[in-house]
Amino acid sequence: MKKKLLIIVDNYEYEKGLKTDWGFSALLEVEGLRILFDLGNEPEIFAHNIEKLGVNLSDVDYLFISHYDSDHIGGLWHFLKRNDSAPILVPYNPEFQDLNEKLREEYGREVVVVSEPIPIGPRNLNIFSTGVVSAFPRPEHSLYLLGQQGWSIIAGCSHPKVWNIAERVKELTKSDHIDMYIGGYHFYRLKGQELKDAVKKVVESGIRRSGACHCTGNEARELLKEIYGENFIEIGVGRVLEWY
Ligand SMILES: [Fe+2]
Ligand SMILES: [Fe+2]
Repeated sequence: MKKKLLIIVDNYEYEKGLKTDWGFSALLEVEGLRILFDLGNEPEIFAHNIEKLGVNLSDVDYLFISHYDSDHIGGLWHFLKRNDSAPILVPYNPEFQDLNEKLREEYGREVVVVSEPIPIGPRNLNIFSTGVVSAFPRPEHSLYLLGQQGWSIIAGCSHPKVWNIAERVKELTKSDHIDMYIGGYHFYRLKGQELKDAVKKVVESGIRRSGACHCTGNEARELLKEIYGENFIEIGVGRVLEWY
């Protein structure tokens, strides 16, 4: 089963003509099922890249919101204007009950509040939400899906920590490794030994290929690049990843 991931918003550049931003958004396509993962930060940048990349938002089947930070939901209103049917998956976070109500009542949306792991789309596609791995520092869920090389994870900011999310997926899938871990690793504030320890924990958690981007931080990204070598996946705006 072919998988395609298109990076719409990220801190890093990959293709010219697109705008970078502190935020994340990506479109996942598996067997015709289209899942929009997060919505970037600045609405204008999200809209600009969507247009340049020729993404048709009305075709999106599910909107996956990893967490409610502004750098992940910036394009929400733009999206709602162009898509009138996709269910919206959000992590359980009582602080954002009002927003969920608004989406339901004013926009007539199906809002799926996720606490526990759930499948997304037809079961045979093997695409899931991790459920809220930890509510600290804020509730976040990630997406994981099965490929020929094992399970891959797509994460927003990894606030519950990369290794905890990886452990959760390994537990749920009874796997000993994670094929790819794509998304923000949230190491941008770490320095020195703390950063080295965090990077070590990433490797020890069985992540075979790293697509660290967004809020990973430049120093952490360089360190991961060094360690992972050819297994470091350069993620940036406009990148298309295809795998089976
Ligand atoms: Fe973020
Ligand atoms: Fe965040």
